[in-house]
Amino acid sequence: MDPMREERHLRAPGPRLILLCGLPGSGKTTLARQLAETLPAVRLCPDEWLTGLGFDLFDAPARDRVERRLWAHAQDLLAAGAVVILENGFWDRAERDEKRLRARELGAAVELRHLAVPMEELRRRTALRNSRPGEAVITPELLSAYEAEFEAPAESEHELFDPPAGRGPSGSR
Ligand SMILES: Nc1ncnc2c1ncn2[C@@H]1O[C@H](COP(=O)(O)OP(=O)(O)OP(=O)(O)O)[C@@H](O)[C@H]1O
Ligand SMILES: [Mg+2]
Repeated sequence: MDPMREERHLRAPGPRLILLCGLPGSGKTTLARQLAETLPAVRLCPDEWLTGLGFDLFDAPARDRVERRLWAHAQDLLAAGAVVILENGFWDRAERDEKRLRARELGAAVELRHLAVPMEELRRRTALRNSRPGEAVITPELLSAYEAEFEAPAESEHELFDPPAGRGPSGSR
């Protein structure tokens, strides 16, 4: 992006929703933490809320309820003018569309950052994480099943979103 244009966006006031899209291990939480500190922004991480409320990360009904509640909270924060980061993964185009349209109704800018990481690297990172105690284990088979479900954003979809307000590490766009 043209540096002058980016500078204007960095200083641009107003609400902003940042959707972090990507498979397990793609670096959503890592990027969200960096952005939350530098922008600054409010980070809403379903995994942390599930764990904090005592749910298992693979409890699908609990995840659904927590994600719905966090989305309601995100809308309140956007209406109050905040910058909000959601790191749900957003595997489905329909879900990304719904979030973008609703955030725009609230007068917010909306960014989509897809962390496109090669499967080999995702397998390496998740294997490393699996070996740490207390982490949710993502087997290589599960990761392959997730890959088949993941609907990667096309270039034409990226054009529907606003340009980023801050720099992320290489690999996100
Ligand atoms: N840009 C990067 N380069 C190399 N390693 C990275 C990068 N980003 C994250 N990692 C590492 O990859 C692992 C997974 O990162 P992170 O937890 O941020 O992914 P995630 O997308 O949030 O995963 P999940 O969907 O399971 O929550 C961590 O060990 C992290 O340190
Ligand atoms: Mg994460």
